[in-house]
Amino acid sequence: MATKEDRPTRVSIDVRDLSKRYGSTVAVEQLTFRVEPGRVTGFLGPNGAGKSTTMRMMIGLDRPTGGEVLIGGRPYSQIREPLREVGALLDPSAVHPGRRARDQLLVLARSNRIPDRRVDVMLDRVGLAGAARRRLGEFSLGMRQRLGLAAALLGEPRVLILDEPLNGLDPEGIQGVRGLLRELAEGGRVVLVSSHLMNEMAVTADHLVVIGRGRLLADVSMTDFGARYGRGRVRLRTTRPERLGRALIAEGLTPAPAKGGAWEVADAQPDRIGVVAARERVPLQELALRSDSLEEAFLRLTAVSTDFTAEFTTDSGRKGAPE
Ligand SMILES: Nc1ncnc2c1ncn2[C@@H]1O[C@H](COP(=O)(O)OP(=O)(O)OP(=O)(O)O)[C@@H](O)[C@H]1O
Ligand SMILES: [Mg+2]
Repeated sequence: MATKEDRPTRVSIDVRDLSKRYGSTVAVEQLTFRVEPGRVTGFLGPNGAGKSTTMRMMIGLDRPTGGEVLIGGRPYSQIREPLREVGALLDPSAVHPGRRARDQLLVLARSNRIPDRRVDVMLDRVGLAGAARRRLGEFSLGMRQRLGLAAALLGEPRVLILDEPLNGLDPEGIQGVRGLLRELAEGGRVVLVSSHLMNEMAVTADHLVVIGRGRLLADVSMTDFGARYGRGRVRLRTTRPERLGRALIAEGLTPAPAKGGAWEVADAQPDRIGVVAARERVPLQELALRSDSLEEAFLRLTAVSTDFTAEFTTDSGRKGAPE
């Protein structure tokens, strides 16, 4: 077993000039980034961007065409007790259908010298204590996700690599996983979580690594992402729209009427509008950055690099976004 002394105190995942080609398909192209401990890093990109491929290469399930990934300074293959160093959730359906949930975890625990009691602690932690003796073939997608998460956390690893862990979870499950990720990050662990949904990451991650077509598009804190790429759209309601409208136009902003008697201001920040409203002594009933402005920023950032280019069409054949 690795002693405390050979474990570097500050572990990170270092992706260096990583590339992967499948025949003529370029899945990952010269990716370089570092995943730091102590925060939740969202690994974001549209379908086919190369997230799963990158994560598979992190834990040696795929061989890079070029470059390397180091975890705590070493390639995954050189980690002696991987389950105790790196927990991964990649494909939750890759389980034996006839095996019972608890047995699945016991096999993992025993082959990695992890005490049996961790199995029950983790089953309870992910809300599967009641299903411990059910066969995996009967598990729903969400239950398989929960079990995969329990498996990843079994050895109390300092590094977590989770591919779309929120997929298939109900709202309670999503909240539970979010709380868990936060707790793990605050405990100084490296937490990398992929998703193709910006809004999901906005409430889950502290830091974002965005890729498109296998290339790095952004490596920024969640806060900076909004400031740098978000053209904020602010929604407001006031009892005196004419007065506030005039003041905002004088500030060079463009307020426009929106649904429900509200107003929207493009390319704006709530702080600035709040200051203008206070100066004009206009009561505000609502003032918020529209939640979809981050989603829009993500779409703009990845627009030129979306691999899955088929656009959705409506019944009448018009192009449109799916509801
Ligand atoms: N085993 C494989 N053989 C051939 N091509 C592959 C293989 N695995 C992935 N690819 C290709 O590599 C690219 C990246 O795929 P990947 O699964 O890494 O994307 P992703 O970002 O995880 O997407 P999603 O959000 O849909 O999960 C895609 O073009 C995909 O078709
Ligand atoms: Mg994927």
